[in-house]
Amino acid sequence: MKQILKQLETMRETARQGGGARRIEAQHAKGKLTARERVDLLLDEGSFEEFDMFVEHRATDFGMADQKVPGDGVVTGWGTINGRMVFVFSKDFTVFGGSLSSAHAQKILKVQRQALKMGAPIIGLFDAGGARIQEGVDSLAGYADIFLENTLASGVIPQIAVIMGPCAGGDVYSPAIMDFIFMVKDTSYMYVTGPDVVKTVTHEDVSHEDLGGYRVHAMKSGVADGAFENDLEAMTQVRRLVDFLPTSNRERPPVRVSFDEAEREEPSLDTLVPANPNKPYDMKELILKVVDEADFFEISPDFAKNIICGFGRLDGQTVIDSSRKAARFVRFCDAFEIPLVTFVDVPGFMPGTRQEQGGLIRHGAKLLFAYAEATVPKITIITRKAYGGAYDVMSSKHIRGDLNYAWPTAEIAVMGSKGAVEIIFRNQTAEELVAREAEYKERFANPFVAAARGYIDDVIMPHGTRRRIVRGLRSLKGKTLSNPWKKHDNIPL
Ligand code: HXC
Repeated sequence: MKQILKQLETMRETARQGGGARRIEAQHAKGKLTARERVDLLLDEGSFEEFDMFVEHRATDFGMADQKVPGDGVVTGWGTINGRMVFVFSKDFTVFGGSLSSAHAQKILKVQRQALKMGAPIIGLFDAGGARIQEGVDSLAGYADIFLENTLASGVIPQIAVIMGPCAGGDVYSPAIMDFIFMVKDTSYMYVTGPDVVKTVTHEDVSHEDLGGYRVHAMKSGVADGAFENDLEAMTQVRRLVDFLPTSNRERPPVRVSFDEAEREEPSLDTLVPANPNKPYDMKELILKVVDEADFFEISPDFAKNIICGFGRLDGQTVIDSSRKAARFVRFCDAFEIPLVTFVDVPGFMPGTRQEQGGLIRHGAKLLFAYAEATVPKITIITRKAYGGAYDVMSSKHIRGDLNYAWPTAEIAVMGSKGAVEIIFRNQTAEELVAREAEYKERFANPFVAAARGYIDDVIMPHGTRRRIVRGLRSLKGKTLSNPWKKHDNIPL
């Protein structure tokens, strides 16, 4: 018996060594942690239960029969984050470059299926070279099986991907279906084909970083929802995000004890909006002053910066502050019963050929659709401009906003005053137009016309914003609203 126990421990130790000391050293030299070190940082101490430590691939071609490493390049299992269950898979780059074999895919599928059954989030840590080249079509089959599970789990459990090294070929599509993708600066890159293949096919010389580094995806393409300095920060921040989320669509988001007074007033908000309507101000300051303990997890902070979205809590309860880039985000929140709090200062859709040729109509429709179909509590506060389409789209009363407030500084009109008078008084002189503009501003650039129609429920003092939102959310706890039965909708993709 003792002998067997000893043998088990030896086998475990071999599996823990992954691709061996030399490759682990190389991993560290690149500033990266190993698959297991990452899992240890992500989960509560001692909570990790590993599955399939002894799984090996079954390939024989290309001399693979003699090259077997227990675990086969991915560490899988479950553990807890602040006491709540999550499932994890963590690619081990030290074993065949983290590449995906049939056996490796089976391990991931096991945790995906278990997470869906248990109603717990799944977190994938990616550091891999794509399909295991030696396995051919079996590897492709494994990927497709994983994509299917990702799709079925979408909207049922939160799915989070963290790219912590290369993420190439088949590996990119599982994160792409998941809810959030984060990267690690300077050590991670995501692309369908790497620089070598690009060179062969298009003769273009490009670095890993310029093809798929965090600057590409967190700033330009919008594929990633954020980038962190290093592995440690990435794991810490994912823990923070998970804390805002429900474990599945069967559960409510976690309510945390908050020491931040619901009644807290913020007198500085009364002077936040500058007198000059063209002068910007810091919307993030408003968010930080309103949410509990100024704790706000921002999504995509470096992409489409004119719109801020992320998670915060009000009265201990998770909500979001939403935006156009976040049609996706609004849908995530609706799927997981997270109320939407929307602050509006939007002068309308950006005009121009670039926008129109880029499909502004279809993209704008995404947000409109997302807000209109959302049935979670929706509170809207117009702080300054809500012109034209922006007024309608940004969670207005007309698309089932539950509580719609405006600050006294709000300007609710079909369009900006200059553009408006130039159209309706086309034949008038420049001086006349100036007078007309002042008249138009006086008439429309305020919240009271909308309030007189009941489109705005109340014009509120900025300093009382937090109190009004908290009371609003409490009043909406019992909200029930459902959409007509359908197989699924056809969101304007
Ligand atoms: C098997 C692989 C591998 C792969 C890497 N390795 N990728 N083994 N299959 N796909 C192995 C290497 O042989 C090496 O083994 C070890 O992992 C480390 O790789 P290096 O190349 O030495 O590391 P590095 O220089 O850091 O380069 C990392 C890399 C590169 C950029 C990821 O390895 C690479 O370009 N790999 C191929 C990427 C790719 O094109 N994959 C196929 C995509 S097609 P040793 O023993 O030396 O340590 C695909 C189709 C699916 O995925 C589509 C589904 C939709």
